[in-house]
Amino acid sequence: MALLLQNSISIVALVTLLLSSGYSLKAYAQLTGNATHYQPPYMPSACYGYAEQGSMIAQVGEELWNNGLACGKHYQVTCLSGCRDQTVPVTVKIVEHCYKCEFTMILSEEAYDQISYTNGGGWINISYQESI
Ligand SMILES: *[C@@H]1O[C@H](CO)[C@@H](O)[C@H](O)[C@H]1NC(C)=O
Ligand SMILES: *[C@@H]1O[C@H](CO)[C@@H](O)[C@H](O)[C@H]1NC(C)=O
Repeated sequence: MALLLQNSISIVALVTLLLSSGYSLKAYAQLTGNATHYQPPYMPSACYGYAEQGSMIAQVGEELWNNGLACGKHYQVTCLSGCRDQTVPVTVKIVEHCYKCEFTMILSEEAYDQISYTNGGGWINISYQESI
């Protein structure tokens, strides 16, 4: 029993070490692009089908889609210009592919609304950074 416990503790320690070293190696770049918004229904999505992912979500264009590897990634998005608020960043989860899209990202209306105006269409310039 004691041996078993000790083994599981070292496994936990090893996993913790791997995870923390993995994360510290990832220095996500701050990039710039542009974004617009889309409206519900948000399902089905290319990444999750009919599984609900909340409303802080986004689609990515060809540049970030990467054959679906973008699914489930989180990005912190900050508005650079064309928006209402350049100080509040919003974090979104990628759930969808915007096929042949002329934008870097398409944010849900709820996410876009935190940084810009959703009425009257429009688009904004953004800076974005992958986050955990
Ligand atoms: C986005 O940035 C470009 C280049 O700086 C600028 O010409 C354009 O007006 C900006 N768009 C918005 C919506 O602010
Ligand atoms: C958004 O950025 C992309 C890539 O730089 C550019 O090709 C596209 O024209 C921009 N969209 C708009 C509406 O300006």
